[in-house]
Amino acid sequence: MSQSKNPERQRLIAIDHQYVAPAGRVSKFDLVVDHGKGAKVWDVDGNVYIDFLASASAVNVGHSNPKVVAAIHNQTDKLIHYISGYFYHEPAIKLAKRLALLAPGKTPKKVSFSTSGSEAAEAVVKFARSYTKRSVILTFQNSWHGTTLGAASLSAIDGNMHRDIGPLIPDIHHIPFPNPDKRFPGESLADFSKRYLKELTDLFTRDIPADQIAAILIEPIQGDAGIIMPPISYMQGLYKICHENGILFCTDEINQGFGRSGKMWSIDHFNLEPDLMAVGKSLASGMPLSAIIGKAPIMDSLASPANATTTAANPICCAAALATIDEIESLDLVERSRKLGEFSKTQFSKLQKEFPVIKHVRMIGLNGGIEFAEDQSQLVTNLCNYCFEHGLIVISTMDHIIRFQPPLVITKAELTKGIGILHDGLTNLV
Ligand SMILES: Cc1ncc(COP(=O)(O)O)c(C=O)c1O
Repeated sequence: MSQSKNPERQRLIAIDHQYVAPAGRVSKFDLVVDHGKGAKVWDVDGNVYIDFLASASAVNVGHSNPKVVAAIHNQTDKLIHYISGYFYHEPAIKLAKRLALLAPGKTPKKVSFSTSGSEAAEAVVKFARSYTKRSVILTFQNSWHGTTLGAASLSAIDGNMHRDIGPLIPDIHHIPFPNPDKRFPGESLADFSKRYLKELTDLFTRDIPADQIAAILIEPIQGDAGIIMPPISYMQGLYKICHENGILFCTDEINQGFGRSGKMWSIDHFNLEPDLMAVGKSLASGMPLSAIIGKAPIMDSLASPANATTTAANPICCAAALATIDEIESLDLVERSRKLGEFSKTQFSKLQKEFPVIKHVRMIGLNGGIEFAEDQSQLVTNLCNYCFEHGLIVISTMDHIIRFQPPLVITKAELTKGIGILHDGLTNLV
């Protein structure tokens, strides 16, 4: 059954187009969200959707999670905001301790808060440059680290993020990301990793001396690029090269953290302890809060007030974050993500068998990239539109990859129903 048409969304969208600048929108579908619960979303016209996007991986514990809602209400009654740069408040102190202890590895950590993931990614540049007294930062092709000027400079996935805003911040270079689906025929994972690591060390001799490099920042699983996980041998080799050369090994967990990948952190798949790590999105269930968590001496190296902003560590956001982390732990969402990811992989692999236009099914936790042939971007757009019209929120990334990131509280029945809608769409469209 197709979703009912109603002029309310059209009326609101017409006002939006008159008053909201387009630069802030990556338009996917004319959905005007009204409310959400768990893994379901309702629009202003009363249509209900199963959500395979989770607000871009920002609501891992589900829409309007009751524990998070209660924490927000309680904190709102007490204090909406006081600038945390000037004074202290308990929610931020509690959260900093919780994050420092939750971060991978045993080295003592400290935390610095901001409001968006972009600022947290950008903070990696500031802390790393300050600690190492070096300027160069290496990030990866197809990475998304955000859209503030610094974060846009770190990103390399869409030229429009750089168009007309330059000069970008200097001394940031983008190196190739080791996507194992791009191996040469017959190439082993070990040889593939060696090839990419050699390209990096060649870069040190040919172009950028290692002793000029402050940090390498990587999404341990690239999100917007289509849920791509490098080989373990590559990541361990990268970590070793970093530490042999005094380069900080830094990770962006903004998209992939908090259980999304079937582990608490995506870097846990590689058993490595980052020097600095950026978190955001699901940290506070989509409330504006982000943080950089890092080894204490690095975090102590940046002078005050170089990372202070007025609304960072807002107490309502911190209370939401504490409740979110409680929910991840008490509902065992990391394990749930792993198990439901396996279930989903089986379902999507069946789809792939039936529709060979699907080239790869990548699934790491409840977190997938369903990659179609590169010339099938129109089919993928039509498929997403079909799904919207039939009650499923699902979007594409890189034009030809379905991005699958439902809230981790989604039920098996909802998953089955949503994948059924994708199946019906493919049956109609292929
Ligand atoms: C990996 C990653 N880093 C950083 C960001 C930027 O976060 P924000 O949009 O909250 O600024 C994103 C956003 O999609 C992301 O996916």
